[in-house]
Amino acid sequence: MFFGKKKEQAVYEPKEMLLQESTPFFLTEAYRSLKANISLSIPKKKDGKAVSFFITSAFPNEGKSVVSANLSLMFALSNVKVLLIDADMRKGTSHKYFSLPYKPGLSELLSGSATLDEVIHSTSVHENLFVISSGTRTPNPYELLGSDSMASVYEELSTRFDYIIFDTSPLGMMADCLALVPYVDGCAIVSSYMGSTYKDLKNVVGKLQFSHCKVLGVILNGYEERKKGYGRYGYGKYGYNYRYGDEEPSEN
Ligand SMILES: Nc1ncnc2c1ncn2[C@@H]1O[C@H](COP(=O)(O)OP(=O)(O)O)[C@@H](O)[C@H]1O
Ligand SMILES: [Mg+2]
Repeated sequence: MFFGKKKEQAVYEPKEMLLQESTPFFLTEAYRSLKANISLSIPKKKDGKAVSFFITSAFPNEGKSVVSANLSLMFALSNVKVLLIDADMRKGTSHKYFSLPYKPGLSELLSGSATLDEVIHSTSVHENLFVISSGTRTPNPYELLGSDSMASVYEELSTRFDYIIFDTSPLGMMADCLALVPYVDGCAIVSSYMGSTYKDLKNVVGKLQFSHCKVLGVILNGYEERKKGYGRYGYGKYGYNYRYGDEEPSEN
């Protein structure tokens, strides 16, 4: 997945990162084939309940949220009802792609201060695409995701949607997403080009396998073929060693 470089030092607005008519064909195609591969890896359920998976990575800023948002949109375009859940309750950003409020969201829902209908947001990008934002930052995401209330919420959601996609925090740094393993059919790992190494990925895969989570595959983000004489540029390795999730999410 490579969005190219807009201009020197420019960072894309989240909304600009969503697939749209002006998106280069190769990029839309990359998402289309990613969607197809995932659909083939997890067939639809006979009981009609949702197919679900989470997206994680070794480190922050590898592109989990961009990929989750675009993949959700790609599924929605194929006429299935999709729910994107921002389960990164330390540093949620999914709401930004759809210009939605970050709360009430998942943390309010799981702590009992908001209802399901209050947190499921429709989106203006597609009528089949719905989002639950991360909600207020919480110090104990693993406990909330592993709570009984998550079990009952998921049970209800799995009857309302065809696909549920969880955007999560980086497994290389915290174990939060492992609390979702009992609910999902698998997970995909986003790896930024020149970011996470083979060793980093092996570490993440090891944790997932130990938890008996089906690893659907690794999504390479930000890859650009090296042009002779130009070297590598574009989206590369971001700082990993900052404290993760110290700030409340922002609307934009
Ligand atoms: N392929 C890409 N091309 C350009 N910018 C990207 C790409 N993937 C991610 N980014 C940018 O990198 C930053 C981190 O991406 P994000 O999806 O929020 O990472 P994560 O959720 O893994 O922390 C965002 O500003 C996003 O817009
Ligand atoms: Mg993110």
